[in-house]
Amino acid sequence: MGERQAIERDAWRLNLSQRPRRNRRSEWARRLVREHRLDVSDLIWPLFLVEGTGLKEPVASMPGVFRHSVDRAVEAIAYAASLGIPAVALFPNIDPALRDERGSHAHHPENLVCAACRAIKANVSEIGVITDVALDPYTSHGHDGLLEGDEIVNDVTVAALVGQALNQARAGADVIAPSDMMDGRVGAIRAALDAEGFEHVQIMSYAAKYASAFYGPFRDAIGTSQTLRGDKRSYQMDPANSNEALREVALDLEEGADMVMVKPGMPYLDIVRRVADTFEAPTFAYQVSGEYAMIMAASQNGWLDGDRAMMESLLAFKRAGADGVLTYFAIRAAEMLNQRVEPN
Ligand code: PBG
Repeated sequence: MGERQAIERDAWRLNLSQRPRRNRRSEWARRLVREHRLDVSDLIWPLFLVEGTGLKEPVASMPGVFRHSVDRAVEAIAYAASLGIPAVALFPNIDPALRDERGSHAHHPENLVCAACRAIKANVSEIGVITDVALDPYTSHGHDGLLEGDEIVNDVTVAALVGQALNQARAGADVIAPSDMMDGRVGAIRAALDAEGFEHVQIMSYAAKYASAFYGPFRDAIGTSQTLRGDKRSYQMDPANSNEALREVALDLEEGADMVMVKPGMPYLDIVRRVADTFEAPTFAYQVSGEYAMIMAASQNGWLDGDRAMMESLLAFKRAGADGVLTYFAIRAAEMLNQRVEPN
């Protein structure tokens, strides 16, 4: 230490018996003390489907995200599997002509999701197929449940969701993922699956799903933003609540959920942490469409480095205690992780 530095230190009375910066000086040291890592095995890729063949339609509010016809989805999912992504989550954009008040097309054995499940299972080995249980892609009013007057009626909806879940299991879905937030649906779906010999089919419940503005671009992607009547606040959670999320997760686990999810992601990392710590069950977070759109829009404007923001945001889920993340960045992130390139 030079004389001048010694004088400055004494003048400021710095206590430097601890210098945390020592562990940050070099890349090898930073790697050595790193607490959390993102791995390709943490990624679940949500994918949009559309009727037709040879289609890959861009979603305007989600740059880099497309609606795939089943044939193109199979190709894209084969690539995802080759990258090591463990699972995909399917979301259909249903032909408006097939939507009705009761969401009946959800029960059609040849609907878009069922066709995709069969094609993926026949053509891609080693990837899990997660299907969404909720009626919103199929209802003319865009709600996840059934309406009587202005009310989303719980128990009647649960019966419909059970039918939808069985339809998906028969088509080969590996994981049933109820995103509807009706009371009692996990238990009802579990019982129905078991009764039909689908004991092995897993349930990933959207256990703490908030009524969020961050779902906007998703509703463009599946074509419900124009049709949604009112809002979803009578079934999705109030963003002001935290303890309630623990009660929701406790119920879903009691009812038989194998994995639980918190949604949206980044604005709710406190909930992810509480859920992970409290239950020590497989816990996932959904980095939703609006979160993706924000990062992409800022990146396209040159306002931030998109790849670095992507990797930082995904790592944040691991740090908060999540076992994995549903993210529209899954392909890009997997490519980067496989090349072992650090974002700049
Ligand atoms: C609806 C559903 C939504 C999302 C997944 N399933 C939106 C909603 O509740 O309106 C949102 C996902 C996203 O924004 O990426 N069952």
